[in-house]
Amino acid sequence: MKTPVTNIADLRELARRRVPRAFFEYADRGSYDETTLHENRRALDRLQLRQRVMQDVDNRSLATTLLGAPVSMPLAIAPTGLTGLQHGSGEIHGARAAADAGIPFCLSTMSICSIEQVRAACDTPFWFQVYVMRDRGYTRELIRRARAAQCSALMLTADLTVQGQRHREIKNGLSVPPKVTLRNLLDIASKPRWAWHVLKAPSRSFGNLEGRIGGADSLTTLAQWIASQFDPTLNWDDLAWIREEWPGKLIIKGILDPEDARLAVQHGVDAIVVSNHGGRQLDGAPGTIDVLPAIVDAVEGRTEVLFDSGITSGQDLLKALALGARAGLIGKAFLYGLGANGQQGVTQAIELIRRELSVTMALTGQRDAARISRDVIWRGS
Ligand code: GLV
Repeated sequence: MKTPVTNIADLRELARRRVPRAFFEYADRGSYDETTLHENRRALDRLQLRQRVMQDVDNRSLATTLLGAPVSMPLAIAPTGLTGLQHGSGEIHGARAAADAGIPFCLSTMSICSIEQVRAACDTPFWFQVYVMRDRGYTRELIRRARAAQCSALMLTADLTVQGQRHREIKNGLSVPPKVTLRNLLDIASKPRWAWHVLKAPSRSFGNLEGRIGGADSLTTLAQWIASQFDPTLNWDDLAWIREEWPGKLIIKGILDPEDARLAVQHGVDAIVVSNHGGRQLDGAPGTIDVLPAIVDAVEGRTEVLFDSGITSGQDLLKALALGARAGLIGKAFLYGLGANGQQGVTQAIELIRRELSVTMALTGQRDAARISRDVIWRGS
């Protein structure tokens, strides 16, 4: 009998078995000593919840709005690179599962399926995440493509102009398109189901970056490629030309300091994502949940505050909502579901978190996910 999947850890274990090691570890691991990666977990675990009883919690509502649009629960899918190599057509599966669940999906610049391929496969508008490249003309073009695809928000990632080293990417020789080595071949041969879905997919290399990344004869590690393409001069003045290209909703991701949060407000962004990039960038940075309250206080309600880095359960999500986030984003939890079982696995990940959030709301005496306050956090924690 198949063991039932009861939590995100079960999906992670299935993904670990089904996805070639280089791609699984790309999703799963963090930068340098992974102190921040683990701190994200520890910081969430340190917070305890107040159990409340006798509150009539029968009719609970998880619905809210994000950037003015209704969502079925305060959750979105974070932009993740190489998604289509966790499972063939992964971005399309992610976008469809999110649309079915009534939550936003954010497509990464570093996706495998292109903006246009995802748009053609999915009627519901999605968000697009942009990295600013040294070639500004190319970045402008990406933004125009996102407009043409009627993306409903643009998310500018601010914390990856220079990549924090992930040792596993180097040790696994992670490259795009995948490098064919004996070790890779043996690994892939033991994952026929993964290979079948990847072969069927419309794209196996960075779909948005055609012509920007060499063919099989010019393989390069991901880190080398990022170093050659991404623009470390990115600064607040750049928001002016980005705004000219993108009149719609603008989100800035990678805010981890109240001072940067204030600057983001001054520059008129519609939302910020409090994030340490899932512990994949600055190793030594605090757990995201530890900085959330100070950032929420700094912005004083002038912009929406979203939260990512570490959410693997509805309990985690409730803690983020309690400390002032309007919603949480899932990256790893999404990719585990995808690697485990494609679109169905993503749906499973979302529904696990939905049920956990609903039950945890009941047990903390909460009826409305949009009105959870710091009161639900146990004072001593
Ligand atoms: C890209 O966003 C990465 O974290 O690798």
